[in-house]
Amino acid sequence: MRRPLLVANWKMNKDRDGARAYARALLTALEAAPPSETEVVVAPPFTLLETLGTAFEGSRVGLAAQNVSAEVQGAHTGEISAEMLSELGCQYCLVGHSERRANQGETSTQVAEKAAALLEAGLRPIICVGETGAEREAGRTAEIVGQQLEMSLPRISTPTANHLVVAYEPVWAIGTGVTATPEQAQEVQALLRERLRTILGESAEDVRLQYGGSVGPHTIQALMNQPDIDGALIGSAALDPETFEQMIANTHWENTSP
Ligand code: PGA
Repeated sequence: MRRPLLVANWKMNKDRDGARAYARALLTALEAAPPSETEVVVAPPFTLLETLGTAFEGSRVGLAAQNVSAEVQGAHTGEISAEMLSELGCQYCLVGHSERRANQGETSTQVAEKAAALLEAGLRPIICVGETGAEREAGRTAEIVGQQLEMSLPRISTPTANHLVVAYEPVWAIGTGVTATPEQAQEVQALLRERLRTILGESAEDVRLQYGGSVGPHTIQALMNQPDIDGALIGSAALDPETFEQMIANTHWENTSP
């Protein structure tokens, strides 16, 4: 059974007071909400990991970082290792977000190395892939995301497959207010699952596949109803704790996955 996973990606937003207020509001809203099996994770900037780690301690809300170094330690000025993230209480870390691929020139090979470093330290990578609008228009979606997936996967042994999360985030849907339709998303997610089966065999069924790109309270349920969508990576809509909680509440999982 793949447990649904909703992750709030704060990107480079919020200060310490804002983070504390968010944590209070989210925890209050979650306490009042009916019990749910959805896993809830927040990914703040590095500087707020400790603040949120403390605020969420003992709660159902987990912690993710937005980037990591592939190196273990040493002369890497400005970098943060997976062990350091683990020490701060992170369970997850995004790797290969399209903003990093586009703005920092991060390659799939580097993403694979980062994902491997995370698994090595006991963290779960959320590997992001997605095509641009131009690539989609040129009919290259399957080729691009398939290639990104294959090259971004760490060399792992099958038992750790259930520690892997892959987020399909079409670049044209990120921050644009244009969500992919559930059918468009499912088409690509099914393809990703198929590629994972080729690489990982049966354990591909254990990998959780998220969708990301302008997900909001009104679009989340239809997306989550798709057989290969096991969660969402949410940016702007999740910056508001009440809206994020609404999305958690609107996620009724009817998936029939194994
Ligand atoms: P968005 O961002 O929800 O604001 O489109 C999603 C993401 O970039 O992870």
